[in-house]
Amino acid sequence: MKIAIGNDHAGVDLKNSLLEHLMEKGHTVDDYGTNSTEKVNYPVYAETVAKKVVSGEYDCGILICGTGVGISIAANKVKGARAAACSEPSTARLVKEHNDANIICIGARMIGEQMATDIVDAYMGATFEGGRHIKRLDMVRAIEENGTCME
Ligand code: RB5
Repeated sequence: MKIAIGNDHAGVDLKNSLLEHLMEKGHTVDDYGTNSTEKVNYPVYAETVAKKVVSGEYDCGILICGTGVGISIAANKVKGARAAACSEPSTARLVKEHNDANIICIGARMIGEQMATDIVDAYMGATFEGGRHIKRLDMVRAIEENGTCME
């Protein structure tokens, strides 16, 4: 898979660890995050990665900040982004199977390296189930496009 990864200052070490893991597994990973622990603003990295994923340049994105939440809120402001903050592998699998999440977000200050690796592997190993979930995603898109999913 072709993956775009991004992070703020809280996520540098975890990003490097996940980058190495994903490349060992044969994925192509491009790094759009900071590599410094100097304080930066997470929306910059969220916007960059989300736009690259939504444009189709990448199959999916991984975003890392302190909690995984700020960067997911920001990424979800990009039209077409479905960014899900995950703190354990079952959620990571389900956000792909049910929500067709195109970005997962991880909190480097909340979870350890092994859990983060398991989260990424669970997400990468999952496939969107389609079926009943298609209508729901269409409704999510309707909110984005028209401000409402209600007829
Ligand atoms: C940065 O200190 C921190 O606020 C950020 O990494 C993130 O946790 C925001 O949601």
